[in-house]
Amino acid sequence: MSEQNKIDAPFNEEQQQWLSGFFAGANTRLLKQDDSAQSNLRALTVIYGTQTGNSESIGEDIVAAAAEYGLAAELVDMGDLDVDSLADIERLLIICSTYGEGEMPDNAEVLWDAIKEDSAPKLDKMYFSVLALGDSSYDEYCLAGKEWDARLAELGAKRVTDCVLCDVDFDDDAEQWTKDALDAIKETGSEPTGSASSAPAKAKKEKSKYNRKNPFLAPLITNRTISGENSSKEIKHFEFSLKDSGLNYEAGDALNVVPLNDAALVNTLIERLGVTGDEDVDGKSLREALTSEFDIKLPAGPFLDAVAEKSKDEELNGLLTNGDKEALNNYLWGRDIIDFIIDLDVTFTLDELLPLLRKLQARAYSISSSSKKHQDEVHLTISSVRYESQGRDHQGVASCYLADRVEENGKVGVYFSPNTSFRVPKDPEAPMIMVGPGTGIAPFRAFLEEREATKATGDNWLFFGDRKQADDYIYQQEIADWQSTGLLANLDLAFSRDQEQKIYVQTRMQEKGAELFSWLDRGGYFFVCGDASYMAKDVDKALHALISEHGNMDEDAAITYVNELKKAKRYVRDVY
Ligand SMILES: Cc1cc2nc3c(=O)[nH]c(=O)nc-3n(C[C@H](O)[C@H](O)[C@H](O)COP(=O)(O)OP(=O)(O)OC[C@H]3O[C@@H](n4cnc5c(N)ncnc54)[C@H](O)[C@@H]3O)c2cc1C
Ligand SMILES: NC(=O)c1ccc[n+]([C@@H]2O[C@H](COP(=O)([O-])OP(=O)(O)OC[C@H]3O[C@@H](n4cnc5c(N)ncnc54)[C@H](OP(=O)(O)O)[C@@H]3O)[C@@H](O)[C@H]2O)c1
Ligand SMILES: Cc1cc2nc3c(=O)[nH]c(=O)nc-3n(C[C@H](O)[C@H](O)[C@H](O)COP(=O)(O)O)c2cc1C
Repeated sequence: MSEQNKIDAPFNEEQQQWLSGFFAGANTRLLKQDDSAQSNLRALTVIYGTQTGNSESIGEDIVAAAAEYGLAAELVDMGDLDVDSLADIERLLIICSTYGEGEMPDNAEVLWDAIKEDSAPKLDKMYFSVLALGDSSYDEYCLAGKEWDARLAELGAKRVTDCVLCDVDFDDDAEQWTKDALDAIKETGSEPTGSASSAPAKAKKEKSKYNRKNPFLAPLITNRTISGENSSKEIKHFEFSLKDSGLNYEAGDALNVVPLNDAALVNTLIERLGVTGDEDVDGKSLREALTSEFDIKLPAGPFLDAVAEKSKDEELNGLLTNGDKEALNNYLWGRDIIDFIIDLDVTFTLDELLPLLRKLQARAYSISSSSKKHQDEVHLTISSVRYESQGRDHQGVASCYLADRVEENGKVGVYFSPNTSFRVPKDPEAPMIMVGPGTGIAPFRAFLEEREATKATGDNWLFFGDRKQADDYIYQQEIADWQSTGLLANLDLAFSRDQEQKIYVQTRMQEKGAELFSWLDRGGYFFVCGDASYMAKDVDKALHALISEHGNMDEDAAITYVNELKKAKRYVRDVY
């Protein structure tokens, strides 16, 4: 590690106190509803579509706040709601994120497919509002939420407030929408009944005091490379201590890491701006702000527009205006903010540049440990993002912050995101099939540790793979141990680059189709983790195909079978 790149704790004590004080009010909205007073309240149904828990967490806040507005709210997973039951709901708030490329999150898919149909019920007596979660760096920004908003209106429901689109830093917008929507919906529809929808409600959960605005500073106690010396990539195993934090998590949850930018990158930017780094930015030095507050890598839309305007570069201007998103994405792939500033030789003043930068975001990682086995610890399995582009070496902000720049026992800002759908089956005897190539193995290490710790007797089957067996077979010894104790009944490996023809996890699924179908048919759970863009889609196709072949079903019947698995939360994915 170079001296220049070493950084201590992300927030010094003063910063930490400032952050805690500033956000101390964040949880005061979590008022408990007085159940005895519910008969005077109007019923409100809050439904969420989520992949990684943000929408669910906002839903919990709404439910807690609703009584103040004279509303008795119930929080319902979209996956637990039947389309016909929507017709009975008078007051509905929806929070829905967008996944894939403008797609519904997994738990919203079945309900969405049903409500899109011509046979969907009329919603004449419904009042509603939608909060759409997304990320403006994606082409189809908040599309799923926008689609819900449009479809409900089409079916006759009355919008009480406009659909609000929330970017990654969604807390303030979500809070404002909550207030506005509750205020607008509180006196709509019929008089109080004291009961909300007949759909199953979610139990209330206590919220952690640590969150994106108040991360826990966890000592990094292990940083070990687990890919081989000759591997074409670097995969790291990290362990953090949670001692004295009061924090706990469940296998299937994600840990968010609050990164700091690389000092070398910050220096380059300061030099290009022609400033000293000591300039004041909201009470911090510019150097500190560029290190911990701003995303100085991702060229967001407003930055690109400004570069195009300043540089008059024909290629960039053409790509930004001709509507060819694929060509634009190919051009942008691998280019960061400094590439643009250097290559197109544009000059920004500080006041021009800062408003064009997004806030530095935490990165989510699927947890690869069970807290039942590793008390007071949480483990991650991370592929370091390193590549060469535009004649410069590039490093992923968070993966390389952890890999290269946090010292042993150095503190890292972290907070958990529960993923309540992605869980080891409650039934200890249920078979579990796990498909997790590459870093996709992370939650399955946690699942297997969990099943070992709880002495669950259900059969476990892991599909794992990566590029080369000799270098990329991570956790090989642990896997061998699980096989020898019988915890892992089946193991199928797919190393893609050990032979001429690519072999992927879905190749192995196809080969073992009959057995896999028999596991599903006796109540098995099917989990997928890892790459969303290609792997998860191909695995989904392979799953449909093998169900069709070995279950003797036509295409429609196989789709229905898979949808039933999804509804029962027996087909769940953690893909990115
Ligand atoms: C729910 C969830 C769970 C996740 N779990 C894991 C996990 O367990 N392990 C894991 O490793 N990751 C996981 N991720 C991904 C993780 O959150 C980060 O996206 C990842 O580590 C990259 O972040 P970074 O800050 O290091 O890279 P960034 O600074 O965000 O850089 C990534 C960007 O670099 C560019 N890029 C990357 N590779 C290349 C290349 N070869 N050529 C050109 N450009 C390139 C792309 O623009 C890419 O978007 C998960 C994500 C989610 C949402
Ligand atoms: N957003 C980000 O910045 C970011 C950063 C890191 C990772 N990720 C995502 O996380 C994923 C996981 O990364 P990783 O390093 O753990 O592993 P990975 O790149 O997904 O590779 C794991 C294995 O999957 C194989 N694979 C490739 N295409 C596949 C397909 N269509 N179906 C099935 N298997 C396929 C790979 O084979 P070949 O490579 O030989 O084809 C390799 O053997 C990445 O692919 C990427 O999408 C995102
Ligand atoms: C793999 C992946 C794909 C995503 N695709 C989109 C997208 O197409 N459009 C968008 O606006 N946001 C997209 N997002 C951002 C999420 O919608 C956003 O992070 C949201 O806060 C997640 O909320 P949830 O935890 O409730 O699922 C994507 C995020 C991930 C990890």
